[in-house]
Amino acid sequence: MAGEKILIVDDDMNMLEVLNLRLQAEGYEVSTTSNTADALSQSRDTLFDLALLDLKLGGQSGIQLMKDIHQTSMDMPIIILTAFGTIETAVEAMKEGAYSYLTKPFDRRELLLQIKNGLEKYKLSREVRRLKDLVGEKYGLKNIIGKSKKMQDVLEQVLRAAEVDSNVCIIGESGTGKELIAKSLHILSHREEKPFVAINSAAIPEGLFEAELFGYQKGAFTGAISSKRGYFAKADGGTLFLDEIAEMPESMQAKLLRVLQDKTFYPLGGEKPVEVDIRIIVATNKNLEEEVKTGNFREDLFYRIHVIPIHLPLLKDRKEDILLLTDHFIKKFNNEMNKDIKGLSASAFQYLLSHLWPGNVRELENTIEYAMAMASSSIIDADLIFPRKPKDKGSLKPLKKAKDEFEKDYILNLLTSTKGNVSKAARMAAKHRSDFYNLLKKHDLKAIDFKG
Ligand SMILES: Nc1ncnc2c1ncn2[C@@H]1O[C@H](COP(=O)(O)OP(=O)(O)OP(=O)(O)O)[C@@H](O)[C@H]1O
Ligand SMILES: [Mg+2]
Repeated sequence: MAGEKILIVDDDMNMLEVLNLRLQAEGYEVSTTSNTADALSQSRDTLFDLALLDLKLGGQSGIQLMKDIHQTSMDMPIIILTAFGTIETAVEAMKEGAYSYLTKPFDRRELLLQIKNGLEKYKLSREVRRLKDLVGEKYGLKNIIGKSKKMQDVLEQVLRAAEVDSNVCIIGESGTGKELIAKSLHILSHREEKPFVAINSAAIPEGLFEAELFGYQKGAFTGAISSKRGYFAKADGGTLFLDEIAEMPESMQAKLLRVLQDKTFYPLGGEKPVEVDIRIIVATNKNLEEEVKTGNFREDLFYRIHVIPIHLPLLKDRKEDILLLTDHFIKKFNNEMNKDIKGLSASAFQYLLSHLWPGNVRELENTIEYAMAMASSSIIDADLIFPRKPKDKGSLKPLKKAKDEFEKDYILNLLTSTKGNVSKAARMAAKHRSDFYNLLKKHDLKAIDFKG
């Protein structure tokens, strides 16, 4: 626990000296003062990890000083020292935000234990705040749009994963943002300055896999007229992103496993092993556990790569992000197309909310791009979004399904036109509020998504 900074404020010089020596002996960095104004200015200039405050400071209240310090160092733990030991003063201090209190004369072990616990707790709350700050805006995350709980959880996992080197497996359906997440994870990690190399396992013919991944020496096979570096060598020091990992041929899975275990590989025709330092991120839209069960994917490889799984939500399960994403794409394409599209008409937006988005964010992005390219006015109307994605009205379906679809559509219309006002919507539908709520539940709709 060495090096943590502790501020001690006491008007008893002997006490200050004793505490100073004790805590320094434990490896803490200690500042002492007997003056409240000085204590306050020190706490503003230095980031202390913890403070010990005497409750009575030459007539001034330690509690007031504590409150003042907390103004700038919000969740810094403050331990109150009291010579009076009355329960009331201690309780008052705790009520006002003290972490704990010690009654003079106090036991050395008790003092050290309280300090240790206080520091621990502070570290945790600071870490949580830091993560929250990061999730909010900064770094590689600013391109990832999503304020839904589901997306915020994903971003928090990404931040945590970025701090370690463990292999990550991103699981999500087509267009949910797997590659975007993998790149952000790379940018947030200590490997940021090193390469991010992406390979699509489905796109490489089986016979070429080894040569592509490991490279080859000149003359390794007919046609190898010069040596070539493989993806593994190119990604050294950085991140290797293996997309569609479930499509990797079996023979290759075994070889990949060996690289992950030994952190070395042999280029084709090479005699000497090449050492690499690589973080592996894989992505899949399949259920790898199932693939293991059916024998399509090696179990040992699965455990190697599945250390940190990150599941990406479907777009239809985070409807509240659709508006944000739409705004984001409108900005993006306004820039790229040099246009000045302001937004969508209510009916166009209503369509975006009711569509199921099998192609997820990519489909939404393409839809907006198409509509903006075709738009002749600054507001995009539904007709620019409908023709590209017609509802399958031609096919005949079971009556129950057709009715359900109609019902959902009808409710979406109501919610859109009432801007999520359930009472109003229920009235228009001539339904009781509770029945209307049941309908919302049945179709997995939330009125809040339609507010504003
Ligand atoms: N949360 C998001 N915020 C902003 N843009 C996103 C988000 N998620 C995805 N996108 C964008 O959607 C498109 C598809 O994302 P990406 O290629 O990462 O998905 P994927 O899961 O790898 O898709 P596929 O399975 O088709 O390979 C990209 O243009 C990406 O920038
Ligand atoms: Mg992808």
